[in-house]
Amino acid sequence: MAFVERVFSGVQPTGNLHLGNYLGAIVNFVKMQQTHNCIYCVVDMHAITQGVEVWGGPAELARNTREVTAAFIAAGIDAKKHIVFNQSQIAGHAELTWIFNCVARIGWLNRMTQFKEKAGKDRENASIGLYDYPVLMAADILLYRATHVPVGEDQKQHLELSRDIAQKFNNDFGDSIRGHGFADGLFFPQPEPLITGPATRVMSLRDGTKKMSKSDASDNSRINLTDDADTIAQKIRRAKTDPEPLPSEEKGLETRPEADNLVGIYAALAGISKQEVLTQFGGGQFSTFKNALVEVCVAKLAPIASEMKKLVADPGHVDSILADGANRARGIADETMRITKDIVGFIRPR
Ligand code: TYM
Repeated sequence: MAFVERVFSGVQPTGNLHLGNYLGAIVNFVKMQQTHNCIYCVVDMHAITQGVEVWGGPAELARNTREVTAAFIAAGIDAKKHIVFNQSQIAGHAELTWIFNCVARIGWLNRMTQFKEKAGKDRENASIGLYDYPVLMAADILLYRATHVPVGEDQKQHLELSRDIAQKFNNDFGDSIRGHGFADGLFFPQPEPLITGPATRVMSLRDGTKKMSKSDASDNSRINLTDDADTIAQKIRRAKTDPEPLPSEEKGLETRPEADNLVGIYAALAGISKQEVLTQFGGGQFSTFKNALVEVCVAKLAPIASEMKKLVADPGHVDSILADGANRARGIADETMRITKDIVGFIRPR
């Protein structure tokens, strides 16, 4: 069976939504609306997988959930035509995770580099939720039988795991799947990652070899979606560079991570290629380029920041967007769970 194409993606409400999240993910979320039915999820269940001291407690979680929702809307996601909701409103995410826990293998999870990075040296003390994080991700996507998943580069391995889980479920339950009317034995699609554009991996402004991240101790390492124009200008002017002028060809960026990163950011914000940026700024000083970068950055982000501010000032409105999205998401999720339970052999009321 050819699967109906559907887009799903998620963002964690863990504070400090930054330029990496915007260029690596949210810009593509907005784009996909033109061609697909899209479901965008604020993954609050993922957000609590590290200790409470990391995610900040109940008030902070609720505030961050509304802030990510506001960022979606402010960036141009149409919550009426598409679906925007927070994960914990739909029980199916947890239910399907359990079934997938029994499909996925420990060996698969042991390979996940993000767990290793996040758990650090004290792995014994990491939560089971953090270890299981990629299985919950697979459940998020497959609960809606989504076929396409726009994400930043760092999520590639998790997407591969989702594909493996979908395939093993289809194999393990092939006969039952066929018995439930899916002649080709395929109930879950293998979701395709969409990792596109010149900024699939935005790096720290302080160190071009490190990913821009919500959790970096230095706020100067990232541009937050809520930063005002002066803060953006300051952070870009202070961004680490090297003493050479910008090259005129892309090849010249290969050994210069900071220059490469800033050029990539400019390209993504201006909607042009890195080569086009270099044709314009190659041979020039960083200071000239940085001034132009401040300009495009502020032009793109300032309207988003001000719209976000308006939206978060009205939490009741944001909550109603999430409730409405959850109601529509639930229709799809319940149907998937009903069939999945039948396929597995769980008895349910008829
Ligand atoms: P999160 O909240 O950590 O990141 C949200 C999105 O932002 C992208 N991203 C970046 N892209 C480019 N450069 C960066 N420096 C950068 N940092 C983050 C991430 O790749 C991601 O696309 N696990 C997911 C959330 C999730 C999810 C899902 C995604 C939960 N369930 C199902 C897709 C499908 C995550 O990393 O969130």
